[in-house]
Amino acid sequence: MGMKTDWWGAQTHNEKVIVALDVDSRTQALALAQALQGSGCWLKIGLELYARSGLELVETFKSMGFPIFLDLKLHDIPTTVERTLKVLSASGVDMVDIHCTGGYSMMARAAEVCHQAGIKIIGVTVLTSMGPEDLREIGVQASPEQQVVNLARLAKQAGLDGVVASAQEAAVLRKQLGPEFILVTPGIRPPGSAKNDQVRVLTPREALEAGSSYLVVGRPITQAADPRQALAALWG
Ligand code: C5P
Repeated sequence: MGMKTDWWGAQTHNEKVIVALDVDSRTQALALAQALQGSGCWLKIGLELYARSGLELVETFKSMGFPIFLDLKLHDIPTTVERTLKVLSASGVDMVDIHCTGGYSMMARAAEVCHQAGIKIIGVTVLTSMGPEDLREIGVQASPEQQVVNLARLAKQAGLDGVVASAQEAAVLRKQLGPEFILVTPGIRPPGSAKNDQVRVLTPREALEAGSSYLVVGRPITQAADPRQALAALWG
């Protein structure tokens, strides 16, 4: 479902699209899920919606057939992260994330508990809101690009399945970390659509060609009059 062959000869899949439900109301989130049900796309629940509705909404979306990426970006001592991931994984989520700057031990323990539960775990390297000066302020001398690659390598060694990265970083990460490493990329816009506050954006096709595994798309779908049609329009 949601699959077609397009002009560049590759198959495009809604299964590679993660729709970011960046809303703070359960009603709005449910309306979006109903509009997208059966399309094959994933849903991403971030801190805002999680703060509103918690794991109950994860279970509801799972019962509607969606794969779920629970984007809480955990960052704490290994034991706390491990115990929290046990609770989260029991809800049926399919993918979760943690901050790579929590360190090797934290990532390794997190990877182990997620793999036992059969779910994917990915890492956040450097928040894209941070530039070179922000990194220096927290004692990191490496450039953002170097730091992203360093942390992604450490994440892979620790057993994480992949990282969240800007679509612009996808090509270098794909090259450095191999074909199996999951790259989840936001900053995606269909050709000709509003950028909102995203500065550097790639189209879905460009991101997949650069090596993205999953595309995170928010406002182009969640603010569309017809979200399902907006999902289809990603592929031109
Ligand atoms: O609406 P839009 O498509 O810009 O939403 C993108 C989603 O990806 C949001 O949930 C945003 O928090 C997230 N994100 C991002 N840039 C990053 C990391 C995450 O836009 N570098």
